[in-house]
Amino acid sequence: MDHAEVVGRTIHQDFLEAANDLPDGFVDLLFVDPPYNLNKTFNSATFKKTHPDAYADWLGKAFDKLERLLKATSSIYVCTEWASSPAVYSVLRDRFVVRNRITWEREKGRGAARNWKNASEDVWFCTVSDDYTFNVDAVKLKRRVLAPYTKQTGEPKDWTKTSEGDYRLTHPSNLWSDITIPFWSMPENTDHPTQKPEKLVAKIILASSRPGDVVLDPFLGSGTTSVVAKKLGRGFVGVEIDEAYCCLAEKRLLMAEDDCTIQGYADGVFWERNTINEQNRLRYGGDESRKGNHRRAGQGADLSQTKLFE
Ligand SMILES: C[S@@+](CC[C@H](N)C(=O)[O-])C[C@H]1O[C@@H](n2cnc3c(N)ncnc32)[C@H](O)[C@@H]1O
Repeated sequence: MDHAEVVGRTIHQDFLEAANDLPDGFVDLLFVDPPYNLNKTFNSATFKKTHPDAYADWLGKAFDKLERLLKATSSIYVCTEWASSPAVYSVLRDRFVVRNRITWEREKGRGAARNWKNASEDVWFCTVSDDYTFNVDAVKLKRRVLAPYTKQTGEPKDWTKTSEGDYRLTHPSNLWSDITIPFWSMPENTDHPTQKPEKLVAKIILASSRPGDVVLDPFLGSGTTSVVAKKLGRGFVGVEIDEAYCCLAEKRLLMAEDDCTIQGYADGVFWERNTINEQNRLRYGGDESRKGNHRRAGQGADLSQTKLFE
């Protein structure tokens, strides 16, 4: 298959087989959210927890296939949980320039009587070389100002006064605490057991790709990566072994034609947890009749979702 045949598709196949038919060097951004090293059932298949070394061998086989698909300028993000993170790092450090480990505070997690509740996941950020895209201005976080320092002239120092409150645009760190998992009342939620939030994937796509670039997800699940890529004007290819999940992905891609909004991302910025609710309350006084749907993500606040936001 060449580039034109493959971009925009959801491929229903085992990635290890599908990779053989994908073209050389067509991927600008690779997002890998594999089954974690846990006992987990994905519809028809069950993934069994194994020794971290065996998990690293399995993941290494996927990367043996993936490397050929990358460009010298590609970026790679790989999701994992704390116990397998060292094994995942060992796979990545031998192949790529490992640039950071992002920790996503999921908030939700099952409490444990004799342990700390596990409420975080890791996302490793790597590049193929030192020549890579990183659009920091596209992923700034909009935070409410707690200490509104002013210059001697009385002007705000590094924040903006608006009728909706005082805000500062801050550089994003590798600790992501502004994103919750998709819960039942959010429009993006599906039956997939480990669906990633669109907001998380949007940060990665905006930071590490340009409009028109191609994003590959070899473990597509419910289609989050392809859907967000589509909403943000990127090309996409997703591979998923389970047919029902491929159908979920295709349905979401169809829905993205009418609704390009991404929850928690509006007006071109990522909003801190809860601030978008507050902003809309101040702006519209809770008038839910003033809804807007058919916008490209980042252009105007999405009022249809304010009720549902954390
Ligand atoms: C962690 S989930 C991905 C979730 C996805 N990021 C989302 O937001 O929905 C991993 C997915 O990989 C799929 N999978 C497992 N082995 C696979 C393989 N060899 N090739 C392609 N997909 C596979 C599973 O069916 C599962 O849906």
